[in-house]
Amino acid sequence: MTQSYDFMTNCLLLQNKFDRFIMNVLLTGSGGREHALAWKIARSPLLNRLFIAPGNAGTAQAGCNTPIGVNDFAATGRFALQEDIGMIVVGPEEPLVGGIVDYFAAHPELKHIPVIGPPAQGAQLEGSKDFAKEFMLRHGIPTAAYRSFTVGQETEAQDFIRSLPPPYVLKADGLAAGKGVVIINSQEEAFTALREMFSGRFGAAGRKVVIEEYLSGIELSVFALTDGENYLLLPEAKDYKRAGEGDTGPNTGGMGAVSPVPFAGKEFMEKVETRIVRPTVEGLRRDGIPYKGFIFFGLISVNGDPMVIEYNVRMGDPETEAVIPRIESDLLELLQSVADGTLNRQTVMVSRQAAATVMLVSGGYPGSYEKGKPISGLASAADCILFHAGTADNDGQAVTAGGRVMAVTAMAGSMEAALDRANVSAGTIGYEGKYFRRDIGFDLKQGG
Ligand code: AMP
Ligand code: GLY
Repeated sequence: MTQSYDFMTNCLLLQNKFDRFIMNVLLTGSGGREHALAWKIARSPLLNRLFIAPGNAGTAQAGCNTPIGVNDFAATGRFALQEDIGMIVVGPEEPLVGGIVDYFAAHPELKHIPVIGPPAQGAQLEGSKDFAKEFMLRHGIPTAAYRSFTVGQETEAQDFIRSLPPPYVLKADGLAAGKGVVIINSQEEAFTALREMFSGRFGAAGRKVVIEEYLSGIELSVFALTDGENYLLLPEAKDYKRAGEGDTGPNTGGMGAVSPVPFAGKEFMEKVETRIVRPTVEGLRRDGIPYKGFIFFGLISVNGDPMVIEYNVRMGDPETEAVIPRIESDLLELLQSVADGTLNRQTVMVSRQAAATVMLVSGGYPGSYEKGKPISGLASAADCILFHAGTADNDGQAVTAGGRVMAVTAMAGSMEAALDRANVSAGTIGYEGKYFRRDIGFDLKQGG
C-alpha cells in the first residue's frame, strides 16, 4: 500500500500495490468498530479510495473522513454518486433499522451501489425484540421462553411475571442503545420497571415489552456474513459489558473483548451452526428477506447448549476490534461476494493467534465524564493496534472526545499473553481521568 496526500480534498489517497484502482468504498459510523473495519478495508488490494462518514481521528489514518451523519441517507447518496462509490459498508444499526438499504434500492440512480447490511425488515431482528422472538419461534431457533405485552396490558404482564421464577428479564421492544433490558430479582421492582417502560422511559421503544425466562450461563458473540443464501462464520469473541472488574457495576457499551473464546470449541460451534446460524439464514430466506450483511448472534451457553439472547444486524463493539485483526482474508473481497451472492466461493482465513482488546474510557463513564483531555503515550504502544473510538484531533494533538476513548488490541500466541500485552499498553497511554478494566478475560483463563 502506498499513500499520498491530496491537498485539494485534504485527504490521504490510498493506492494499492498493483496500481489497480478497483473500488471506492464508503464506510459509515464513527466508533472503534468503524476504525477496525477501516483499518482492515484499507489493506485490501481491491480498494481504490476509502471514505468514512463521519469517522473519527483514527479512521482519518485509514482513509478520508467526510462529515455526513449516518442517518442522512440523501447526503450519503449524493456523496456516493459524486465520489463514484462502489460499495457502502454500514457500521451501526440505526441507519439499517431506518432503511438505508431500502433507500438505495428505491432510487434508480443509486440502486447499482451495494449497501452491506439488511433491509429495514431484516434489521427488525435487532430493531424489535418481539420481531426477533417471533422469528426464532417460527424457525425453531433456541431462545428463552417469552411473552410480549403492549401498553394497556399491564395486568396481564404482571400475571405473567408472577408465573415466572425470579430473576425477571424485561426488555423494551425497540432500539434503546443497550439500555432497554432490566434484570430484576424482586417482583415489586419488576412491576415498577414495567410501569416505567410503558410510561415512556424508553420512548416508543418501550410501548411493547418482552418479558422472558432468565437463562443462566456464559455469553459469547458469534458473527456471520451472509449473502442471503450462503454464510461464512467469522471468529467468535466474548465482550465485557460491565464497567467494574469482576463484571460488576453498570452496563457500558463494552470494556474489552477477547477472541477466540476458549469454551467455544469445535463441538459447541457445530451446535451453534446447525441449531442457530443455518436456521437463521434459512429463515430469512424463507421469510423473503434479502439479507446481505453481518449477523451478530448474542449467545449464551446453557450447560453447553447455545441459545440466542439477541440478534444484532451489524458487528459488535468492542468485539470487532478483537475479531477483525484475526481475519487474514481480504475483507473487501468477502464483502464483494456478499454483494454478488457468491459467498459460497469464499473461505475465511483466521489467524491462530489470540486477540485481546482493552477499552480505555473516560473517568465517570458510563455516567457523565469530561472531554478534551490530551492523550499521551500513543507511540509507546507500538506492539498493539490502537483503534480510536471517542477521540478528536486538536491541532495535531489527540484529545478525548467520548466515553469510550480507544481500544487497545494485542495479538499473541495465547489469550493470556495477548491480555498482558494489551494491559501494559493500556497502562502506558495517558490522559486525565483514564480508566480501564485490568481483568478482561478473567473468567476464561485457565483455572479462572
Ligand atoms: P440484550 O440487549 O437482549 O442483549 O440484553 C442485554 C444483556 O442482558 C445480555 O447481554 C445478557 O447479559 C442479559 N440478558 C438478556 N436476556 C437474558 C435472559 N433471558 N437471561 C439472562 N440474561 C439475559
Ligand atoms: N458489544 C455488544 C454490542 O456491540 O452490542
